[in-house]
Amino acid sequence: MDRIRIRGGRSLSGTIPISGAKNAALPLMATALLTDGPLTLTNAPDLADVVTMSGLLSQHGLTVDHDRKARTITLSGAANNLEAPYDLVRKMRASVLVLGPLVARFGRARVSLPGGCAIGTRPVDLHLQALEQMGATIEITAGYIEATAPDGLKGARVIFPQVSVGATENILMAATLAQGTTEIVNAAREPEITDLAACLMRLGARIEGIGTDRLIVEGVTSLGPAVHPIIPDRIEAGTYACAAAITGGQVLLGGARLDHLGAVVRILRDAGVDVAETEGGLKVSRLNGLRGTDVMTEPFPGFATDMQAQFMALMCVAEGAAMITETIFENRFMHVPELTRMGARINFHGHSAIVRGVSRLSGAPVMATDLRASVSLILAGLAAQGETIVNRVYHLDRGYERVEEKLAAIGADIERLPG
Ligand code: EPZ
Repeated sequence: MDRIRIRGGRSLSGTIPISGAKNAALPLMATALLTDGPLTLTNAPDLADVVTMSGLLSQHGLTVDHDRKARTITLSGAANNLEAPYDLVRKMRASVLVLGPLVARFGRARVSLPGGCAIGTRPVDLHLQALEQMGATIEITAGYIEATAPDGLKGARVIFPQVSVGATENILMAATLAQGTTEIVNAAREPEITDLAACLMRLGARIEGIGTDRLIVEGVTSLGPAVHPIIPDRIEAGTYACAAAITGGQVLLGGARLDHLGAVVRILRDAGVDVAETEGGLKVSRLNGLRGTDVMTEPFPGFATDMQAQFMALMCVAEGAAMITETIFENRFMHVPELTRMGARINFHGHSAIVRGVSRLSGAPVMATDLRASVSLILAGLAAQGETIVNRVYHLDRGYERVEEKLAAIGADIERLPG
């Protein structure tokens, strides 16, 4: 298995190109099941999860052409297999996003339950309850979701008891082909949802309330072709903002959008990081000390849970203490023991962690456990004295395109050691 070696202590400066958003690309690819297409997605990131989703959609019968050089993915054809098998779904939870489109268009789907992952059990009950409200019959048999709607889905008023990005995406996609009107109340408002709605509109869907927590979808009988640009990855941008901040450098995040970062911008500024919007993207620098800053993860526009591990790494070398509370997932502190091995002072109990800043971290061999925890160890390694080896970097490749190349290009002493 590949490892990444970092020799810390160098400040970063230059431009990092921000790739298309992983968490936009995956649902956008699933929309291809709703139409014969062709659907062409531009600004497509080259990520392991995108390859996994391409494989899943291909086994459903779609033609998927991913041109890495041109950064486009073109999807066409109609599904002829309505089953998403366990061996694919277990690799990537976002596979469950084929459920809504398949039931809406073909009246049936057999999708493996995704199971949990390192950060939590991650049930899909909200997805299933909403589809039942729209007239689907749902049975769980041998670890599979068996969903049927022989007369098609009917519009309904879906009120989510808690905000769920995936459930909002599944129901939004399903509602585009349901008979009648669907209202989604307490919908997630992440930029990836807005991007998905924009793409569905290009395909011919009729959606109101885009960007709000109340979406109204007027079902149509069919959807057509479209070309859609994928938004830049706000979590990748936030991650590299933390890289500039933790090393005391100045970096331009090429193509990043301030409005997509929500509360992350305010928290970074409170911590002493300068974030400025420019023509080419976001300019991030840190000239003075870092200040310990409390943060609580929330659905967008709150502080993103996908930025929690990265911000914790930053707080490890801040002046004073920071209370970090994770409200979205039940087990998203697996980076704590690894950061502690590097000399960080962190205590956590339940959903809250107290970080007491130290003057220097020390490089060490550490273990990556999940996507965002892995990158927090890279950030700590950039600031640490000495050498850090991050093991199991396949987690990283799921969500970060060429992370070591992008960081090396702006001055980091970082390289991938083939496994
Ligand atoms: C999406 O996951 C993202 N993944 C996650 O990013 C992100 O952390 C999460 O949204 C929150 O922003 C993709 O977009 C592919 P949720 P999702 O449904 O949709 C509970 C990354 O690092 N819940 O908003 O699975 C759930 O357990 C990944 O890029 C239910 O209880 O997240 C969690 O506690 C990690 N029942 C909370 O809701 C359900 O039916 C939020 O989950 C669905 C969710």
